[in-house]
Amino acid sequence: MASGPARRSPIPDPVATRLSLYLRQLETLDRRGLKTISSSQLAESLRLTSALVRSDLSYLNFSSTSRTRKIGHSGMGYRIDELTALLRCTLGTDRLWEVVLVGAGNLGRALLAYGGFATRGFRLVAVFDCDPKKVATSYGELSVRPVTDLVPFIHEHSISLAIIAVPATDAQDVADTLTAAGIDGLLNFAPVSLRVPDHVALRDVDISVPLEQIAFDVTRRRQITHLS
Ligand code: NAI
Repeated sequence: MASGPARRSPIPDPVATRLSLYLRQLETLDRRGLKTISSSQLAESLRLTSALVRSDLSYLNFSSTSRTRKIGHSGMGYRIDELTALLRCTLGTDRLWEVVLVGAGNLGRALLAYGGFATRGFRLVAVFDCDPKKVATSYGELSVRPVTDLVPFIHEHSISLAIIAVPATDAQDVADTLTAAGIDGLLNFAPVSLRVPDHVALRDVDISVPLEQIAFDVTRRRQITHLS
């Protein structure tokens, strides 16, 4: 179990990624009615080592709120609601983020159809496309807006986050427009390395990367089985 003062150093990216995993897992356990969890139980449920989980949780500022405290004796674990609240606060998802989506193609439409963002603290508030045939088409509560409305919309609604789901050839132009309009965080699905100003947070999503890792794992396991 993590104890003592929070580390002063910034949270490294791999740790932040695992904190998101812990949060999702805790929300699942909470829905199942579990009230407390130890770091070793959390580790086991995610097939991680308890040393890694303890190290990751040591980045959390447990002293930031009296609501979040180690409960009971060492080894008894954390209250799931309190650890969840601290993780949300640390990850910045204890508030609702309004997000714009650029690109209403196959991927954009799949993202629009996904209902799970709201429960994670994100709301898709507008979708933009440059194809006049797609403009005004409705997907759920949203209708596609012309990309010419993108900058005014960002200004008017003080939007900070955007998702890029346009072809790779257009992604840099779209990123430039978004960052010039004041967007602070970009989630990029296009298979291209984007250049953004230093103050802008950028994450790329490429499903083929974990697929390659799975293929590698399977190949390695087959080799080990073959050798033994
Ligand atoms: P798509 O061709 O179906 O849709 C792209 C949409 O972007 C079209 O509606 C097009 O009109 C619009 N668009 C193009 N330029 C634009 C601009 N400058 N401003 C606004 N809208 C613009 O493509 P799809 O299948 O939806 O894929 C979108 C992107 O996501 C591609 O870059 C693709 O490679 C990537 N992708 C990434 C995946 C991943 O694992 N990261 C998985 C699937 C797609």
